[in-house]
Amino acid sequence: NGQLARLARAAGLEFFGTCVGEGNTNDQQYMSILRDLDEFDQIVPENGQKWDSLQPQRGRFDYSRGDIVANLARQNGQLLRCHTLTWHSQLPAWVRDGSWNRQTLTEVIETHIANVLRHYQGQCYHWDVVNEAADDNGNWRNSVFYRVLNSDFLPISFFAARRADPSTKLYVLPSPLSTLPSPLSSPLSSLPFPLSPFLSPFLSPPFFLLTPETTKLSTADNMNAKRYYNDYNLEYNDRKTDITVEMVNIIQRAGAPIDGVGFQGHLIVGSTPSRQQLATVLRRFTALGVEVAYTEVDIRHARMPPNQQALVTQGNDYANVLGSCLDVQGCIGFTVWGFTDKYSWIPSTFPGEGDALLYNSNFGKKPAWTSVSSLLAAA
Ligand code: G3I
Repeated sequence: NGQLARLARAAGLEFFGTCVGEGNTNDQQYMSILRDLDEFDQIVPENGQKWDSLQPQRGRFDYSRGDIVANLARQNGQLLRCHTLTWHSQLPAWVRDGSWNRQTLTEVIETHIANVLRHYQGQCYHWDVVNEAADDNGNWRNSVFYRVLNSDFLPISFFAARRADPSTKLYVLPSPLSTLPSPLSSPLSSLPFPLSPFLSPFLSPPFFLLTPETTKLSTADNMNAKRYYNDYNLEYNDRKTDITVEMVNIIQRAGAPIDGVGFQGHLIVGSTPSRQQLATVLRRFTALGVEVAYTEVDIRHARMPPNQQALVTQGNDYANVLGSCLDVQGCIGFTVWGFTDKYSWIPSTFPGEGDALLYNSNFGKKPAWTSVSSLLAAA
């Protein structure tokens, strides 16, 4: 009896999605809601595609956690948002504490992005290429990336993403390598990136080679991901929003490819901006020629447990956020950062706060769910 995604599509959005904690997938009740395409037609890994999961040591790539949600999306026929590449957090110590110069850190970023994007090539609807480059005061975040590369790490990351997943489509040549003319006959082992297991059925002998010239594999394999900058607290139209506008300008002036800005939407019940204020902020970005989406929405109660009135206010706040997206041409989708209060990052980060999602911990629909579904149904 899910309906959020079905209604969201009917209202003109491209998706209504949720993040999925990699540890939650044995919970049958959780999975039955998650798999309902009428409820969620897009998913995003909560942690599995972060740098510390994918490249815990230099040159050792491990896709086992990242693939959990990617595989679920494929099995369920859901869009996959991919999250995230250049980010100061969940960044392994070898990157965070390394003694880098411009050239070596650029190589590290480019190598990470090239490998990860090729592994997930054809699977990601969006990539959060850079995450949270501004700090909470609206200054550049003091990360290893900023310290070594200044603002250049933004265009470097976006250019690397385009190189690894270009709009030039991915093709597979269906001939044995031995019959290929040089240079196509170079052995697979000489490719500068690991080949995706997604393609492995096609890689048993006779071998096939990726090349821009030959036969199309399939539509899905040819999809290239839209490239996003993603951050929180952009919703308040203050210094942090200003510097993020400036970041988009920097990326665009460098000629680097950015398609969208993700508004994470980690908000607080009772202090969420109005629908109109939120629409105004979204339009600051669509005016730059990029699309926007809400990518990680949760609206937490600062006082627990919430009373009935607080639950109603939470529903109104959700409606304001979603409503602003419906109001703005170029706001293309809405993703919640989890759907049940049973699993959320909030209580461990903000002790004493929580219950930020659309379903309670027993998987019952909250007033916020009703508020969201009614708004969509009326849209
Ligand atoms: O995997 C380890 C486990 O091995 C260990 O025993 C355990 C002990 O603490 O920690 C586990 O890692 C935790 C990880 O989640 C997986 O559960 C980390 O400690 C914990 O810090 C991490 O939190 C995640 C957080 O990002 C880290 O920054 C949250 O689950 C995740 O919801 C949150 O998501 C972020 C987005 O990626 C970006 N925007 C903000 C959002 C909320 O903070």
